[in-house]
Amino acid sequence: MKNIQQLFKIAETSMQNAYAPYSKFRVGAAVLADNQKIYGGCNTENISYPCGTCAEAGAIAAMVADGGRIIKQILIVSDGKSMITPCGACLQRIKEFSDVNTEIILTDADRKFHHYHISDLLPQAFKEF
Ligand code: THU
Repeated sequence: MKNIQQLFKIAETSMQNAYAPYSKFRVGAAVLADNQKIYGGCNTENISYPCGTCAEAGAIAAMVADGGRIIKQILIVSDGKSMITPCGACLQRIKEFSDVNTEIILTDADRKFHHYHISDLLPQAFKEF
């Protein structure tokens, strides 16, 4: 398992690159995948607001494009005043590529890490039809 600080560094760098001129709220995410690679993502807004994408979506898409399928760890950071928690849609995105061991690491303004599993944050995820 890679060091959480490595994940933090990539999430933080991604956050610095966020394109968030409308909300002015920057978010960065870093995913450690089953292939041991780390993928970063940032929110990428659009003047047509619903076209904007979340940081988690970007990092997960990069993982999938490179062949990764399981999120071992995902760390999320923002420049907000409180702990960043993924939106509902991103929880469902994380769920798609999670297993019971997947760690979701959320950071607060003091850059403390808070560890969760997807079952903590999305206990009744949609999973079959
Ligand atoms: N945002 C994320 O990138 N991830 C989340 O889980 C929550 C929200 C972004 C979307 C938008 O660019 C900005 O934060 C404000 O909602």
